[in-house]
Amino acid sequence: MKATAKAHTNIALIKYWGKRDESLILPMNNSLSLTLDGFYTTTTVEFRDNLKADQFYLNDKPITGPEYTRVTKFMDLIRGYAEKPSIYAVIQSINHVPTAAGFASSASGFAALAAAATRALEMDLSNQALSRITRQGSGSACRSILGGFVEWEQGEKEDGSDSYAVQVAPPDHWDIRVAAVVLSSKMKKVSSRKGMKRTVETSPFYSSWVDSIPHDLKQIKEAIHVRDFETVGRIAEANCLRMHATTLGANPPFTYWHDTTMAVMQTVKDMRDKGIPAYFTIDAGPNVKVIYLPENEAEVEKTLRTIPGVTDVRLSRSGQGVTYL
Ligand code: PMV
Repeated sequence: MKATAKAHTNIALIKYWGKRDESLILPMNNSLSLTLDGFYTTTTVEFRDNLKADQFYLNDKPITGPEYTRVTKFMDLIRGYAEKPSIYAVIQSINHVPTAAGFASSASGFAALAAAATRALEMDLSNQALSRITRQGSGSACRSILGGFVEWEQGEKEDGSDSYAVQVAPPDHWDIRVAAVVLSSKMKKVSSRKGMKRTVETSPFYSSWVDSIPHDLKQIKEAIHVRDFETVGRIAEANCLRMHATTLGANPPFTYWHDTTMAVMQTVKDMRDKGIPAYFTIDAGPNVKVIYLPENEAEVEKTLRTIPGVTDVRLSRSGQGVTYL
């Protein structure tokens, strides 16, 4: 009863921001992401008869505390689906995600864990069913089950059975690249979970955000299909700015940006003025991701590295969904 799975992280071009159900992790809106080849987690799950509790090792270190609790609660959910309530596992995860670059390792982490645990329990699941389970570990993780461009359909049902990820286009449809820009300064973090909750509950801008999603999604999917980079970039950037605008309307207000974030945003705009198509997006943190085309890679990387306060730039291509090793 042992399996190993590999899952990549993903970057949202249309953001998931806000839950309609906190415990089932059901979103207020559909979101759309690109799975990233460069950044991934590999997880081995081995169920053993003699264990009284799960053991969790991350990068070979035993994990306890809230991180352990989150993982073992998720394992309980999987045990529930498998109808094997009292069989425990040794879980070994290796993260190849630059968390310093503002990627939550939870997306690749929960996708790899869900895949490895369900495979070890010999549950023969479709990607749809696997993404539904993964969603309950971490929302954005459900999109990492699939490769390329992926949409998380919010669904309408109260039990969450119609809230899962679907592939919009496979990785080989289009070679789009992403530069993850690492900033030097640390800020006190409002987690995505707390940030979206506060925004949903208090920001008067929140309803406009939700209303703007269907139009963005329709346009970006059409642009992906015809490989219209400028339209994809323009919509992704505007969608990111609108998501971040909701946080300024929250009570108390907050922002994930700091001065270097804004310097990177300005540099990306300057690149466009010089004829290099590049667009930015930002998640629940100060770091910036820049999307660009392969022919501009050298120039984009060089330009981003010259910005004061930028400590590293990590490049990635479009990646595959979950694989089993
Ligand atoms: O799934 P979480 O709790 O890591 O939330 C992700 C939220 C954003 O990264 C800001 C947007 C997204 O769709 O990934």
